[in-house]
Amino acid sequence: MKILKALALTSAIGSALFVANVANAGDPEAGKQKAETCLGCHGIPRYVNTYPTYHVPKLGGQHAEYLIAALKAYREKQRSHATMHANASSLSDEDIANIAAYLASAK
Ligand code: HEC
Repeated sequence: MKILKALALTSAIGSALFVANVANAGDPEAGKQKAETCLGCHGIPRYVNTYPTYHVPKLGGQHAEYLIAALKAYREKQRSHATMHANASSLSDEDIANIAAYLASAK
């Protein structure tokens, strides 16, 4: 009985942590929809543009924290790139978290 209780407690804590984690990391499903415009350039998995000479960084599988930092930097113009500023400027913090969650989970 004791063991069962301990197990139940452990899994309750585990799922609470899981939920907290998911909430922090954003909603990949919502991010997937938002990221559709991005994928024209940042193709997953090949991360090449339709023009072979146009190089774009690979995003799929990157760490969510890294993607969030990069997108906020583009949005605030701390990181300058006209195209990415244009793409990031309309994104809310929530959009960014969702997109990052989606891209981080993409293989
Ligand atoms: C018109 C093409 C284009 C579109 C559309 C586009 N990007 Fe980009 N993105 C680029 C290019 C080019 C770079 C490299 C810019 C640089 O050198 O700073 C880049 C850089 C990035 C980076 C930084 C990656 C790194 O490794 O530092 C992130 C993150 C990113 N894009 C996310 C997005 C997201 C999210 C969207 C959609 C909201 C998007 N991009 C739409 C072309 C595009």
